[in-house]
Amino acid sequence: MMTRREWMRQAGGVTAIAAIPQLLCSRGLAQTAANGGQAITGAGSLKDHAAARGLLTGCAVNANLLRDDEDFRKLLAEQYNIVVPENCLKWNILRPTAETYNFADADSLVAFAEANGMKVRGHNFVWHEALPGWFAATVNRDNAQKFLVDHIHTVGGRYKGKMHSWDVVNEAIWIPDGRPDGLRSSSPWFQMLGPGYIDLAFRTAREADPTALLTYNDYSIEYDSNDAGRKRTAVLALLRRMKADRVPLDALGIQSHLHAISKEGFSRGVRELIDGAKALGLQVFITELDVNDDAVATADMTERDKIVAAVYRSYLTTALDGPEVKAVLTWGVSDKNTWLNNGTKFRKQHPERLQRPLPFDPDYVPGPAFYAMRDSFDEAKKR
Ligand code: XIL
Repeated sequence: MMTRREWMRQAGGVTAIAAIPQLLCSRGLAQTAANGGQAITGAGSLKDHAAARGLLTGCAVNANLLRDDEDFRKLLAEQYNIVVPENCLKWNILRPTAETYNFADADSLVAFAEANGMKVRGHNFVWHEALPGWFAATVNRDNAQKFLVDHIHTVGGRYKGKMHSWDVVNEAIWIPDGRPDGLRSSSPWFQMLGPGYIDLAFRTAREADPTALLTYNDYSIEYDSNDAGRKRTAVLALLRRMKADRVPLDALGIQSHLHAISKEGFSRGVRELIDGAKALGLQVFITELDVNDDAVATADMTERDKIVAAVYRSYLTTALDGPEVKAVLTWGVSDKNTWLNNGTKFRKQHPERLQRPLPFDPDYVPGPAFYAMRDSFDEAKKR
């Protein structure tokens, strides 16, 4: 983990030095110099502002930080009323071997949420990624259905009645695979079970936990571009087909991994998603919001933060326009820990600097994106 000094060194230059007094004086979180001492806890917290509009707000939680970092736990409890595990409910963490389950981290997270009056989203039952090392050599066409059903019964059953919602199937549409229905035929689940794996997963999830809101979750469906439009159309067609076939489905999760610099807007895209979900009687959740700032030219952190916050603001203003979106979760809490800084995959243009995609800075000081979220909640209609 990076110390603040290392972070500053990495960020470099005049801006970082200019930011030091503000960081130092706002460490306590109760107040910040940045907003003239306005409280950001209690009635000033994200969760209180969200709750006033009937909204849930939360974040993806890193299990190591939850275990080791007291400031992190305090921040979560202060700011959020829903959490989702970033990784610890995925197969590669839960299933060390084909016969065993490791629930340690997921149990801790659920206990933490219960102790702090927070809801929990389950993420996820079925995904083409994050499969354990033993998976490819063990799961085949003959036993895949049993593996899928047993997994959902075991994991869904363990947290039965405790989950606000479950991402039952994640990212099942992938246009480049070339199918007319857009299904990701390269997914191991598709290859072993055919397109029917999706309905099977949702029906099994309903059996395992009848009260969790069963969600289909996907990404790159928000923007007004042709590519996103094609993917969005395929997602909505899938959901329509599922509803017509009476598959239990309650919600659409829009991941919302956004970009600070983009030629395309998202107002039409988001509207189409929300209207499409609404027509099917589905709730909508913003499940993984963050703003990738790799393409921002300037290294000036203040400028980058402003650009990121403006994207939060306009996106949430669009998404919260009607009453359909019930929850807004960011993918992580602070810039200290974001998947966008894992390796350089998402830092191709500026590998020398770290991204700042989240509402809190690496010292857990709220940045402009925090205020953008809070202002967007304030402006939203009550739901
Ligand atoms: C990411 C995690 O953040 C990383 O830590 C992990 O290495 C890979 O998965 N869409 C999803 C999430 O649905 O599960 C992904 O999470 C990010 C993209």
